[in-house]
Amino acid sequence: MKIDQKTGILGGGQLGKMLALAAGKWHLPLWALDADANFPAAPYVPRFVEGDFKNKEDVLAFGREVDVLTIEIEHVNIEALHQLEAEGKRIHPRPGALEIIKDKGRQKQFFADHGFPTAPFTVFEDEKALLRAVEAGEVAFPFVQKTTTAGYDGRGVSIIRSVEDLETRLLEGTCLAEELAPIDKELAVIAARNERGELAAFPAVEMVFNPDANLVELLLCPAQISPAVEAAAENLAKAVIEAFDLCGLLAVELFLTQTGEIWVNEVAPRPHNSGHHTIEACVTSQFEQHLRGVLNWPLGSTELVRPAAMVNLLGAEGYEGAPVFEGLEECLRTPGVYVHNYGKTTTKPFRKMGHVTVVGESVQEVLHKAHWVKDHLRVIAAS
Ligand SMILES: Nc1ncnc2c1ncn2[C@@H]1O[C@H](COP(=O)(O)OP(=O)(O)OP(=O)(O)O)[C@@H](O)[C@H]1O
Ligand SMILES: [Mg+2]
Repeated sequence: MKIDQKTGILGGGQLGKMLALAAGKWHLPLWALDADANFPAAPYVPRFVEGDFKNKEDVLAFGREVDVLTIEIEHVNIEALHQLEAEGKRIHPRPGALEIIKDKGRQKQFFADHGFPTAPFTVFEDEKALLRAVEAGEVAFPFVQKTTTAGYDGRGVSIIRSVEDLETRLLEGTCLAEELAPIDKELAVIAARNERGELAAFPAVEMVFNPDANLVELLLCPAQISPAVEAAAENLAKAVIEAFDLCGLLAVELFLTQTGEIWVNEVAPRPHNSGHHTIEACVTSQFEQHLRGVLNWPLGSTELVRPAAMVNLLGAEGYEGAPVFEGLEECLRTPGVYVHNYGKTTTKPFRKMGHVTVVGESVQEVLHKAHWVKDHLRVIAAS
């Protein structure tokens, strides 16, 4: 087993940074490719290559210099990855699977073809074709429209409930329309796999919504679900990563329906926002596990050591500029509160600037502390 395999990440954002921090323990040479050497991962990797991960030549040149190639973002040049794979490069996630996952229409079709439960859907060439289908009565209100490419953080998703919504909320381009799921809870399970076929799944995480704003307020682990649902969710995530034949991580977003079914919403073949708490709350962090998976090392224990909650730190409304963490001192004074600053040079409203993980003895305690953090920590800008 070689501990010094040169590992390249396409992307140098916060996920790249946290991968680099995990790699540091092993002194693993982890390189990153991204547009700007001011990006979050740059200070933590021995080599940060400035370039465009959407550009074929940049990805080819970067990939040829490393032993193993991975990603922290899906929107990378896939042609270059296929070529590197043909040249014998080890790439995880494998390009064929990444190509399917990058396209939400193909991703949904993959679930359907493999018998994984998912919200019923139809793919349309563009929004005009979707409109025609609505007019013809083939798609009924309410439905969820999703663009097939380049959506993230909910930006490529629109819930259409009426004819008025069709006029104001319809998104342009190739899209799919899916039935509105009767959601009881939104869950996520991060599965891991290596080239030997070893499988592991982290305990399910539950998104806790703010009932007024209908926005995710925090993520909670363990999810407040029965042991049977927990086991089913973990097994489903493992089955999906196997079906895609992936190594490294696969984050599987799930809907627990009001009738107790578990549907796959979407997947991401990389570390995921829903696994940040694993750094402080699990035996192995998702970042370490991803590296173990892509390097074909033994997978680590996914055991949850203590209950945890995670709060995303978004730029406060009304502020733009160099970030200031207001309330930091009180947070640092509080045991079990872990503040992560992504080191982005500018804050903007709703931009992900960091996150806070809270751990404690009980679910009640971490919920209480996480709400306290939400009330006391804000990312504003220097005036
Ligand atoms: N079929 C559905 N029925 C009900 N709600 C849905 C459905 N699909 C998506 N949603 C809601 O919209 C949210 C975002 O959808 P999705 O995860 O597919 O998009 P996304 O752009 O990848 O978002 P993110 O980056 O935040 O994960 C889901 O977390 C869920 O709350
Ligand atoms: Mg999602």
